[in-house]
Amino acid sequence: MSDQKNNESNIPEESTAKSNRSPGASTFGFDTMLGKLVVENGLITPEELIECNAILEEAAGSGTVHTLTDLLINHNYVTNRQIDRLQSDFDTRKSTQRIEGYKIIRKLGAGAMATVFLAVQESLDRPVAIKVLPTKFSDNKEFIDRFYKEGRAAAKLNHPNIVQAYDVGLSGEHHFFVMEFVDGITAFDRLEEEKQLGEKEAIQILRQVACALQHAHEKGFIHRDVKPKNIMISSKGDVKLADLGLARAMSDVETAEAEAGRAYGTPYYISPEQIRGKVDITPAADIYSLGATIYHLVTGRVPFPGKNPSDVMHRHLKQDLVPPDHINDSLSAGFSQIIEMMMVKDVPHRYRNASDLIDDIDAVLAGDQPNFAQPTLDFAMLSKVAKSTSSGAPVSPQIESTKVDGKGLMSLFLAFLIISVIANLILIAVLLV
Ligand SMILES: Nc1ncnc2c1ncn2[C@@H]1O[C@H](COP(=O)(O)OP(=O)(O)O)[C@@H](O)[C@H]1O
Ligand SMILES: [Mg+2]
Repeated sequence: MSDQKNNESNIPEESTAKSNRSPGASTFGFDTMLGKLVVENGLITPEELIECNAILEEAAGSGTVHTLTDLLINHNYVTNRQIDRLQSDFDTRKSTQRIEGYKIIRKLGAGAMATVFLAVQESLDRPVAIKVLPTKFSDNKEFIDRFYKEGRAAAKLNHPNIVQAYDVGLSGEHHFFVMEFVDGITAFDRLEEEKQLGEKEAIQILRQVACALQHAHEKGFIHRDVKPKNIMISSKGDVKLADLGLARAMSDVETAEAEAGRAYGTPYYISPEQIRGKVDITPAADIYSLGATIYHLVTGRVPFPGKNPSDVMHRHLKQDLVPPDHINDSLSAGFSQIIEMMMVKDVPHRYRNASDLIDDIDAVLAGDQPNFAQPTLDFAMLSKVAKSTSSGAPVSPQIESTKVDGKGLMSLFLAFLIISVIANLILIAVLLV
């Protein structure tokens, strides 16, 4: 949300920022705007900017030439990387002013590879969101071909839970993608507001994105980049999956690595098979990423935190998942089981498709047990069972209605064995007292 808020105002006319122009500024444009941009983006306070300008003027008076960029970096107000990013946003915005047929209103946000603007499509007088790719992609013919092909194909999808793709095009050196404007926030913004969402809200998000995936998968699309920032929540509460048909243009690991180092941008949601670079990625990959996304929403933690992208990816491949209801114990067992089944590492044991997932979500919403996801009998659950039997309360219906297969029978037997040992110990203790 903060990014969106910071960018709410139009970038002002260059003339308004002349006073910030550093004596050593080489180009009229970005340098003259820099002071304004760093303040707008919350990197420094207006007071700090005044201080910097005073230092610059003093230096100029003594014949020394500094740039505001150098000063900001030397004082550790900003990093080189932040300056690069501001510069790239600024350049994109300047060259985007002239996308024919569209009037740019303001910047909505920026991801690892592109900047998104709010614009008005003049012919239809409707608001649209335009995603503009940086020029570095213009030279990559293979990328551009795929970008156009997928963009056109995505425009044929039509579903209330999918951000509608409208158009793809080229303006100057920038390729762009025009889509439905969603007046709202992303699930990522929601997470920043609340830190952790409750089951009621999260299951609604899950269901609507699962419906979006069901539609896309049936039409032959795999999203490949489901994550909190690609889930938009409109001000009316409608949930829409964004960027369908865009991720395909790059390899999955390339996409994930492009985000490395950004807060929340590491490959926290990528499926194990995408990490392995499998060519035959199936809809199950999107189900895994959606599972990881919902896990983050309801626990406030990514499923596999790590030191760096490769550490995170290694954990997706090897580390056991901590069940979400072990972190947020207000979650129902059924909902937690659904998330776990979405995140099974081995594709054949994950949900086969979004329809099965939706069936399970509807079962949980109706107060029943999921049909496909099975409870994992673990110690936390056993102690719950033990507590309820020793207190005379009935065993939770979730255990009673467990589908009994070979593995389940064995687990049930073990559970009763442990319960009877605990009961006997209590009995002995009572007799001894
Ligand atoms: N269709 C849209 N309507 C409104 N805002 C959007 C839309 N698409 C993207 N945005 C905003 O632009 C930001 C950047 O989007 P994007 O470039 O896809 O990067 P990412 O998905 O990594 O955030 C998003 O986080 C969101 O705030
Ligand atoms: Mg996006």
